[in-house]
Amino acid sequence: MKLLVFLLLLQLCGSADCRCFCQVTGNLDDCACDVETIDHFNNDQLFPKLQNLLESDYFRFYKVNLNKPCPFWTSSSHCGLRHCAVKPCSPNEVPEGIRSPSHNKYSADANKQLEECEKEQHLGAVDVSLSDETREALLDWSKYDDEAERFCVVDDEASPDSQYVDLLLNPERFTGYKGPEAWQIWNSIYEENCFKPYTVKRPLLPDSFRSSSGGEARKFYSWLDGQCVEKRAFYRLVSGLHASINIHLSARYLLDDNWFQREWGHNVTEFRQRFDSELTAGEGPKRLRNLYFLYLIELRALAKVLPFFQQPSFHLYTGRPEEDKKHKEQLLQILQLARSFPLHFDERSLFAGDEKEAAKLKEDIRLAFLNISKIMDCVDCFKCRLWGKLQTQGLGTVLKILFSERQIEALPMSSNQRPSFQLSRQEIVSLFNAFGRISTSVRELKNFRSMLAEER
Ligand SMILES: *[C@@H]1O[C@H](CO)[C@@H](O)[C@H](O)[C@H]1NC(C)=O
Ligand SMILES: *[C@@H]1O[C@H](CO)[C@@H](O)[C@H](O)[C@H]1NC(C)=O
Repeated sequence: MKLLVFLLLLQLCGSADCRCFCQVTGNLDDCACDVETIDHFNNDQLFPKLQNLLESDYFRFYKVNLNKPCPFWTSSSHCGLRHCAVKPCSPNEVPEGIRSPSHNKYSADANKQLEECEKEQHLGAVDVSLSDETREALLDWSKYDDEAERFCVVDDEASPDSQYVDLLLNPERFTGYKGPEAWQIWNSIYEENCFKPYTVKRPLLPDSFRSSSGGEARKFYSWLDGQCVEKRAFYRLVSGLHASINIHLSARYLLDDNWFQREWGHNVTEFRQRFDSELTAGEGPKRLRNLYFLYLIELRALAKVLPFFQQPSFHLYTGRPEEDKKHKEQLLQILQLARSFPLHFDERSLFAGDEKEAAKLKEDIRLAFLNISKIMDCVDCFKCRLWGKLQTQGLGTVLKILFSERQIEALPMSSNQRPSFQLSRQEIVSLFNAFGRISTSVRELKNFRSMLAEER
């Protein structure tokens, strides 16, 4: 039966929709799920609910520092690129509850607790009856919160350079940011941060676009197959993110730019250049599969983090109790839905080997990811930098969740102690908006699929 389907596909694969999509079907490697199940689940159920939630004030205002210098090379600024500009919010556009000094915390309650903790620390410093050990532990707690287990650099929200950005006013779309600078970013991510030796060439580098013989691609994939599942997963997450961003740029392409109007919409030619197997030496469909892989990983994290958001003390705090309550209910519905997805990726197959080896691997991956999030400060185009930072931070939060299973499960019991797992507002906003981007990409694939089918 499988063979028959395969033969049928081979015969049908003359058209462009097929060249982009015919390999994007069936089971995904390294996990027990198939593309069709994800399409149906996302497009009909999850996507509309999530889209709705992301329009709420809590999720649309993201605080970000777009002015950090690039730590790796001198970058030229693309301020002049009109479509790259990010419009920050003026203070009175941001709801009071989010703006207040407690902006990082999600509720007045939690905030009070925190102040008390700080007071305790302060007391600890003068109360000689506290042992040195306890005092240090108290200090360490707050440091731990900030640093340990982070997969991503989090901007200092208190820095005067950090600004609120209204994500709905600054959509991710085609900006004209292309060419050598954009390539440098992705190149340093793949070449210097994906565990790949320089001797193994990535398939489809821009200069080898036409001349690539197929031999290099074979060498690359045999290298990748030889990697442990974790490093393979890491590469695929990065590639999936890259694919997702390219889908948005093709779906929100600047089609018309003149005196009267500026029109953004789908550009099928652009999409094909990035994903048609004939135009990409077979790479396009693989990238789309990696997008689905990324989707599964993020979905799994949402399913797992439910107990954190279920805590009665958690609020989507904007200072308007009625709305906050309604949005929290919506949020919990979405997480329940994520939980109900039948074919979850099982991350216990990751980091499951020898304990010491697994810890080392996890650390390698954490450091590589941390570095990638710093590279985002080198993206010249501000709008791309905004969405790049948001999406890497979201993915960093996903990894943090996946590797904190025990701590999250311990949450309901830890009500009187210091919570075993925390997420800052910035992490929460980036987590859901990043997943929103991936979910949008999967939905957009449906549009491109039918547009390509019409072209036949
Ligand atoms: C971080 O990324 C930069 C830029 O790609 C690279 O030069 C550097 O070696 C990386 N550092 C680590 C620790 O991976
Ligand atoms: C679509 O994208 C291609 C590049 O891939 C470009 O040459 C073309 O002008 C675009 N079409 C429109 C209508 O903007």
